[in-house]
Amino acid sequence: MILITGGAGFIGSNFVLHLLNDEVASERIVVLDSLTYAGNINNLVSVFKNTNFEFQKCDINDIDNVKKIIIKNKPRAIIHFAAESHVDRSIKGPSKFIETNINGTFNLLVSSYEYFLTLSEVTSSNKDSKNQITKKNFRFLHVSTDEVYGSLEPKEAGFSENHPYKPNSPYAASKASSDFLVRAWNKTYNFPTLITNCSNNYGPYQFPEKLIPLVILNALNKKEIPIYGDGMQIRDWIYVEDHCKAISLILREGIVGQTYNIGGNCEIKNLELVKKICSILDDLLPINNKSNIKKYDDLIQFVDDRLGHDMRYAIDNSKLQKTLGWEPKETLLSGLKKTIQWYIDNSEWIKSVNNDSYKKWIAEQYNTYTKDEKKRSP
Ligand code: NAD
Ligand code: TYD
Repeated sequence: MILITGGAGFIGSNFVLHLLNDEVASERIVVLDSLTYAGNINNLVSVFKNTNFEFQKCDINDIDNVKKIIIKNKPRAIIHFAAESHVDRSIKGPSKFIETNINGTFNLLVSSYEYFLTLSEVTSSNKDSKNQITKKNFRFLHVSTDEVYGSLEPKEAGFSENHPYKPNSPYAASKASSDFLVRAWNKTYNFPTLITNCSNNYGPYQFPEKLIPLVILNALNKKEIPIYGDGMQIRDWIYVEDHCKAISLILREGIVGQTYNIGGNCEIKNLELVKKICSILDDLLPINNKSNIKKYDDLIQFVDDRLGHDMRYAIDNSKLQKTLGWEPKETLLSGLKKTIQWYIDNSEWIKSVNNDSYKKWIAEQYNTYTKDEKKRSP
């Protein structure tokens, strides 16, 4: 079986659905998740009845419980998604990021390594040996971010796996620390780890505090669309399913102890991206004549910049492409169209996340911003 931490979050739940629906229909999947504000059990509703699926509500810092779950289930792999993941929240309250991303990863490594030591060195010769978990075939895959590398200059080459770590936000620093811990467990204890560093994901089930779902939902509700600073910052965007497929492949074929960077080959300025989303919506759901706006991009509102805002992220995918033959399937346009349609079609899911704690976050984050009225609706 495979143990997945953070499997009720955005990428984790997409990964669980990908595994159960497309990849390993006959293998057990256990999700370990504490269901923070970002975790949503509704993301997994379509697999509740699948007898190969099990959910365990557990904090990765609850080391006794984590150990029990690992020992009981005897995973052949642990995929570690659980984290605090939102840069803006890390700026307002960094301590949770240290607790979960650093201490939590440390606890998970300690628990997983203890279990790893109980595994046998070699496969026995009896007929069940095909499914036997040994030290040789066990893997711990740590899911991380390109933000650990810091910010790129406009013409600089994309982040390769050898790029120096220069994290700038508390989120990025906490993820960088977790990457270093995972690396140390491999180098010191020979623990069979893999690390992936991926660019900005988007797609179904993304909590609407991140740029793309926030823009889609604000546009659908005819609310202002906030752009930090001048909107000239560049991100590389990857459709979540492409990320999930890369993780599966790296789990199967990646070389133990190595890092793999994953990107969507879709670099774009924030303002351009937001206008693209607005123009797709103009085609899908044209605004009616009675509204006081004519097009969705009339809702764009420039607001104060994020503190320490990284200017540019870009990924050099060549290692993954050359060694494992992976490349992203979705273009930005095809991925955005699918994502927008998903948010239009899933109003019940949107209601389930639009709770008091979400409204409180949106109010605290955006009501305190100074708006730049001169730059409204460019
Ligand atoms: P998310 O915030 O949507 O989900 C995180 C999940 O982890 C939630 O289900 C939450 O309940 C769970 N969790 C948080 N703290 C926990 C704890 N202490 N114990 C157990 N569970 C806990 O995040 P995401 O966007 O799905 O990101 C998943 C992983 O991928 C993270 O490690 C993130 O750093 C990494 N990543 C994300 C992106 C992106 O664009 N979203 C890009 C690259 C890498
Ligand atoms: P985000 O989705 O928070 O991802 P990350 O910070 O991990 O890259 O933000 C993506 C980009 O969009 C980032 O440059 C910040 C910007 N942004 C806005 O301009 N307005 C917003 O309301 C949000 C949430 C983000």
